[in-house]
Amino acid sequence: MILRAESISKSFSDKKVLDDISVSLSEGELVCILGVSGIGKTTLFNILSGLLMPDSGRVILKGEDITGSTGHLSYMLQKDLLLEHKKVIDNVALPLVLKGMGKKEARQKAFEYFEKFSLTGTEYKYPAQLSGGMRQRASLLRTYMCGDEVALLDEPFSALDVRTRDSVRKWYLDVMDNIRLSTLFITHDIDEALLISDRIYVLGGTPAVIMDEIDTGGRKNRDPETGYPEDHTKLRQRILECFDPAST
Ligand SMILES: Nc1ncnc2c1ncn2[C@@H]1O[C@H](COP(=O)(O)OP(=O)(O)OP(=O)(O)O)[C@@H](O)[C@H]1O
Ligand SMILES: [Mg+2]
Repeated sequence: MILRAESISKSFSDKKVLDDISVSLSEGELVCILGVSGIGKTTLFNILSGLLMPDSGRVILKGEDITGSTGHLSYMLQKDLLLEHKKVIDNVALPLVLKGMGKKEARQKAFEYFEKFSLTGTEYKYPAQLSGGMRQRASLLRTYMCGDEVALLDEPFSALDVRTRDSVRKWYLDVMDNIRLSTLFITHDIDEALLISDRIYVLGGTPAVIMDEIDTGGRKNRDPETGYPEDHTKLRQRILECFDPAST
């Protein structure tokens, strides 16, 4: 196990948002945090990344307590937040520069990854000149350049059109296997979670609790035609029941 959140609770003023949330991530896994809008997914990531202190609970990375401390996990925020006035190469190299590397060296290092992230030729363009899919890959590459073993991705594909989303998703899974990244992935899209994950935590209720944990049988164990787990329909129904218990 590489990352563990233990019994995280969080309130804003007198409103409790997260109640006793525990999640874990193993090396090389892609685990989805699935829940409806406003339930507390981003709040959980802000806590995992150390940007926000939980009221109670701990975040453990490889046995070390990192609760409330930043700089350990690569975090891609819900908006891509590319800096429009900087060239793509400098956007991507930014995490290295922030860690103290010289600009030229940081550019060289970043440059090596453009091919792997299907971004060859975009290095000296500005973000506004890229398509949505390219921007997202550039943002993923910048997140990867943080150099941590765990990536937190907050709805990374939700702003893309359907076709681009399909291809960027497939691409991300390939890249991830290639570089042995472990990923926690937020989505509110049930089908996306079933397509992409090894495991799914379903958040539900107010305050949010973990309603269910679903093993999708591993990403390599998918129907080659559809990309979904074989018991897709049953799993989908099970998740819907967590989202809206009254419907059953
Ligand atoms: N800094 C804050 N101060 C007060 N309330 C907050 C703060 N951050 C989040 N909230 C509230 O906490 C709840 C959960 O918000 P959060 O952004 O974590 O939801 P989410 O699941 O990521 O939603 P979405 O899918 O729309 O991104 C919401 O009711 C939100 O208004
Ligand atoms: Mg959010």
